[in-house]
Amino acid sequence: MSTLATGSDVSDGTGTARRPFPARGQTAAAVFADLFERKTLDADWQRGRTFNLVYPTGRADVDRVLTEANNAYLFENALNPARFPSLGTMQAEVLEMVSSLVNAPPNAGAGFSAGGTESILLSVLVSRERGRVERGITDPNIVFPSSAHPAFAKAAFYLGLEARATPLTDGFTADVDGLFERVDENTVLIVGSAYGFPHGVIDPIEELSNRALALGIPFHSDTCIGSFVLPFMERLGYEIPPYDFRLPGVTQMSCDIHKYGYVTKGASVIVYRDADWLSHQIFDYDVWPPGRYRNASVAGARAASPVAASWALLNYLGVDGYTEIMRDLLETTRRFRDGVSALPGLSILGASIGPLLSFTSTRDDIFAVADVMDARGWHLNRVHNPSGVQMMIAPIHGAHVEEFLGDLAEAVEHHGTARSTMVGYT
Ligand SMILES: Cc1ncc(COP(=O)(O)O)c(C=O)c1O
Repeated sequence: MSTLATGSDVSDGTGTARRPFPARGQTAAAVFADLFERKTLDADWQRGRTFNLVYPTGRADVDRVLTEANNAYLFENALNPARFPSLGTMQAEVLEMVSSLVNAPPNAGAGFSAGGTESILLSVLVSRERGRVERGITDPNIVFPSSAHPAFAKAAFYLGLEARATPLTDGFTADVDGLFERVDENTVLIVGSAYGFPHGVIDPIEELSNRALALGIPFHSDTCIGSFVLPFMERLGYEIPPYDFRLPGVTQMSCDIHKYGYVTKGASVIVYRDADWLSHQIFDYDVWPPGRYRNASVAGARAASPVAASWALLNYLGVDGYTEIMRDLLETTRRFRDGVSALPGLSILGASIGPLLSFTSTRDDIFAVADVMDARGWHLNRVHNPSGVQMMIAPIHGAHVEEFLGDLAEAVEHHGTARSTMVGYT
């Protein structure tokens, strides 16, 4: 039995899947028979069974655009756009498109990254360096509500900062006073989520960022989910509390294209209010015999297909296309919300905004209910304090609402005791 979590990226030598490097190759047919056999064990996202990890639109035309763009750049390397100028221009255009979506000012700068975690890591790096250079901070910390994504704590771990998680209100948003009690002269970054993964609620970004601004501390509005949700909700007439660069205190924003931008994995953008700060993100090294090595993201060699897929899908859908998808998605979310709320004992946690729902039960053990749903092939996320189930709803779920609610009604009536409270990877 491995001592590491299932699916870990590392091998500790005790796993059950030990297999020598095959002495002889097999036919492609044999390899693919094996591959597709293994794949039958995976979560069935194509039938709407997952509520995070993948964000399918369920639209064949969108999938075709993504597949063709990915295939067109399967072998290229985004490390050096000088060799592949098409990648350089597409990447620059994607950065501009995403920056405009979050109302970045004209002198803003942005960088492409492989995902929300990398965007956040880079933001923390830039903040640490700004703190060091501009304020002489040598023992930096970052302060974030405990609902913020673990990527902030991970960045602190990687980059040698202290991570300070602060309490939430009863509505699961950042407790502003509680947060600022942990801010001190060594704080290089304050964080709020718009919106957060656990309950889909928006932190009081205006108040947080104004207070950060008054103290001269950078403020990161984490819109890894929200950047491709909230702008389209605003266009549909929803009243959304301010969360982006229209607030003067917001200095940086993480925007994932591979969540509600519906692009295949490996695509996120980190945007800074001032392009000059990007210099802190750049690693520049010139003693290496092959020459100067200079780039602005964590990886060296980097997949090119996320750049191409992002560029292709943003151009294919446009603001209109995303807004239409959002209209339907919010209607799907309403059907889930009404259906869940109508079941005995179930109630929604927090004033969630957008296509995300967390719910608990006042009557049953919600984790026991979730176990039954798991056994029926639905993959639900867990939340804690209080115990609940969380769902990131994607357009594909529109075709599966009734089936889900039928299974949930049965799970609520017939369940045992909870097997585990495992959260799993989100
Ligand atoms: C609000 C928020 N920020 C950051 C992340 C991290 O993104 P990624 O998993 O792409 O690294 C997530 C992931 O779900 C998230 O929900």
